[in-house]
Amino acid sequence: MTNDTPDIAWQGLLEHRRQIESLHLRDLFATDPDRFARFSVETGALFLDYSKNLVTEETLTRLFGLARARGMEAAIASLFAGDRVNHTERRPALHMALRNRSQRPVMVDGVDVMPAVRDVLARMRTFAEAVRSGIAVGSGGSPYRTVVNIGIGGSDLGPLMVAEALKAFRGSGPDVRFVSNVDDTHLVETLRGVDPATTLFVVSSKTFTTQETMANAQSARAWIADALGDAAVPSHFAAVSTNLEATRTFGIPANRVFEFWDWVGGRYSLWSAIGLPIALAVGMDHFEALLAGAHALDEHFRTAPLERNLPVILGLIGVWNRNFLGCDTHAVLPYDQYLHRLPAYLQQLDMESNGKRVDRDGRPVGHATGPILWGEPGTNGQHAFFQLLHQGTSVVPADFMVAADGHHHLGRHHDLLLANCLAQSQALAFGKTAETAEAEMLQSGMAPEEARRLAPYRSFPGNRPSNTFVLPKLTPETLGALVAAYEHRVFVQSVIWNINPFDQWGVELGKQLANRLLPRLSGTPADSGEDSSTTGLVAKLRSLRPA
Ligand code: F6P
Repeated sequence: MTNDTPDIAWQGLLEHRRQIESLHLRDLFATDPDRFARFSVETGALFLDYSKNLVTEETLTRLFGLARARGMEAAIASLFAGDRVNHTERRPALHMALRNRSQRPVMVDGVDVMPAVRDVLARMRTFAEAVRSGIAVGSGGSPYRTVVNIGIGGSDLGPLMVAEALKAFRGSGPDVRFVSNVDDTHLVETLRGVDPATTLFVVSSKTFTTQETMANAQSARAWIADALGDAAVPSHFAAVSTNLEATRTFGIPANRVFEFWDWVGGRYSLWSAIGLPIALAVGMDHFEALLAGAHALDEHFRTAPLERNLPVILGLIGVWNRNFLGCDTHAVLPYDQYLHRLPAYLQQLDMESNGKRVDRDGRPVGHATGPILWGEPGTNGQHAFFQLLHQGTSVVPADFMVAADGHHHLGRHHDLLLANCLAQSQALAFGKTAETAEAEMLQSGMAPEEARRLAPYRSFPGNRPSNTFVLPKLTPETLGALVAAYEHRVFVQSVIWNINPFDQWGVELGKQLANRLLPRLSGTPADSGEDSSTTGLVAKLRSLRPA
């Protein structure tokens, strides 16, 4: 089914949209004192208020109807059963197995993968504890003080986001840094002032062929070899990959190679050995608590009825905003400095997964798919782009997230953070009419003419949708649940849109062209049948490069 020929549920939602077009969140709240209670959901420590969305009971009933018409329950069961839901690559998507804390086996091709998962976790524990306690040492016998993860995309963003989010749990662990960009500035600046004798590199790459990661890994290898000699290299490297042959060729000892499997997608891999830098940063107990938090959310997603299922609700509201309210972008606004890399992480998760234009049958979809996701931590965003959120011509649905308790208790900082978070979603939802703005100005003593002149500028349309996540505190468990909720939201939307969220062919063309252009930038002649813009730019760059 594509939406070139929308099904009844989809058509019904289009019609419903027309019927409720004139409703304002102000009215929806005014006429229903129980709206918050009815439009919020809680699972474990994760609470979601979705009452400030432009939905009624009927909207939700229709959205659940759409989900059932698209086979949501069967799709969730199929995902957890290890079916080859990634049909273009003929693979299951079993990141949930990595955090499976139950005794349930998870079968791939008739084999239970859980013993191998537990084995890698045990090896990660031994290694992380040895590094953190100083038992594992560099070639000269010094403990590691700095760990540098080299990876990109899912082999960088997940561990980086979590290592930042859980900094309060670091204890006496090493300083863990991340290098991803092929721009050598990233590696050079990361290693500035760092002692090779106390540095451990973790080369993280599912394929162990990614150009950027391999270039950085080779330069890191040379940095160690130059400082400590070739023989020191094995003591200063570890690797995480599905490609054990390539890690061997690189010269990383087998006992420092941590495996994962092709049924783990790159952007879903932080729960695998790709999480090794997290374990090195905060300890294996906290890494396993992260897994436990995600597992609890998995169990909820797998078993809760659609109507009380947090990721399902989140996903369907996203579909409503995208396909029926026409919102092109979606903002993620963590009111938590520790979550400052969450928007970047979710960008890959969401946009690499649902940024698709053909359906599961290879036909162009007849409807919008994943929105552009972006964001920054509050309160910083308030002083930058919130102007557009409140008064611009685009409606941008937003996800706020905040913890009731912070990790530090400096003065009134946390109260200020909470107040600002709540104020923003309130302002977005309810706005301020021109009449109210004018009345306020008059009350403050402004001349009536001036008040009338300024009223249009000082009014807010409101009616702008948002979700608010509340956590008791940002901990490994609550973070695990939050991230898993977003992963499943992506899946829910992919089911509605009938697309495969687990492949990413869209990144391939650029890689191919970069390989073709590489020799043109030096050596071979610049002009070799490229388009005139590319040829011109190559020639310009060549003319400007030092000889
Ligand atoms: O180019 C996209 C991508 O394949 C991502 O999906 C992946 O997370 C990233 O590259 C890194 O890949 P690898 O872990 O194989 O180096």
